[in-house]
Amino acid sequence: MNYSLIEKYFQYLPIKHEKNIVSLVEGNTPLVELTSLMSLFNNQYRVFAKIEGFNPTGSFKDRGMTVAISQAKEVGAKAIICASTGNTSASAAAYAAKAKMKAFVLLPSGKIAHGKLAQAIMYGAEIIQIEGNFDDAMTLVKALSQKLPIALVNSVNPHRLAGQKTAAFEIIETLAEAPDYHALPVGNAGNISAYWMGYKEFFCLKKSKKLPKMLGYQAEGAAPFIHNKPIATPETLATAIRIGNPQSWELAQQAAIGSAGWFASISDEEILTAQRLLARVEGIFCEPASAISIAGLFKDIHLGKIEKGSTIVCTLTGNGLKDSDVVMKHHQHSIVTLNPQAHVIQNHLEKNI
Ligand code: F0G
Repeated sequence: MNYSLIEKYFQYLPIKHEKNIVSLVEGNTPLVELTSLMSLFNNQYRVFAKIEGFNPTGSFKDRGMTVAISQAKEVGAKAIICASTGNTSASAAAYAAKAKMKAFVLLPSGKIAHGKLAQAIMYGAEIIQIEGNFDDAMTLVKALSQKLPIALVNSVNPHRLAGQKTAAFEIIETLAEAPDYHALPVGNAGNISAYWMGYKEFFCLKKSKKLPKMLGYQAEGAAPFIHNKPIATPETLATAIRIGNPQSWELAQQAAIGSAGWFASISDEEILTAQRLLARVEGIFCEPASAISIAGLFKDIHLGKIEKGSTIVCTLTGNGLKDSDVVMKHHQHSIVTLNPQAHVIQNHLEKNI
């Protein structure tokens, strides 16, 4: 039986009536131990990846979207709106389609990975591109949803965070305990806040004896938490987290600082290296923004900031196939073109066996 995330965690979520549930059967994603990767560190750490790319639209956004759209249905909304760097728009469009609601998405022009844009198009969203960045789009949708009868489904909507906290529940249930550290990419800062809520909730219910240190990683060119102020023109190849003015600023501070964790920034080069390594040694293909959890963890292990013997969960927030643009741009050299003759190809194989 495939349960929707809301049915599974009904008592912890704000939906009142099961008949309003809008689900694509999300959540219950794999938690995979990265044994090959950790052998590079003499197995001094136990590291798990929570693979959120397994969600129906390929990212963690579906956990929050099932709750946000179900709640919108509960209050009779006919239309929803969001700003997005890509994944939120795909998720919002899919759940709105299922709920028979109109979806409007505001996107920074030319900065959305093609796979994500294709999803929003196919799910039938009304797509509005603006000559501005995500933060500009966010400011607009916040103002417009105040004026018009359109529900805002960005993570400033608390129902989104309520849905996303369930990933922490699943981790505690699988490991029978919270990890010692939890590493995440930070863009708009909703997800790190949601995990922290989830960990605290299960801790208070005595389902876990400890709380993890929350580690929030940002791209060097889009690192407002490191500079302790918004960034006017954020820049990174990890387009999903190309955000300069995170909406959940206070909540994310409480998560990182309140858990005795921290924020750190990672270069685009380090992100790409981690993304490639994860694919090559573990067979897991995540998008660049997601690989920052692994890149950040590596960096902090090298800096001696992670205690030996500890258990760490890294959330891989989105599926790599959605952002193939980055791969094709940086890995053209991985493809050879040969004449279609057996001896030519045999020669090549013999040299490379
Ligand atoms: N990873 C991916 C793949 C994302 O798409 C996002 C955010 C994040 C990490 C950061 O999560 O914002 O909760 O800190 N993407 C948003 C979007 C903003 O519009 O899809 P956050």
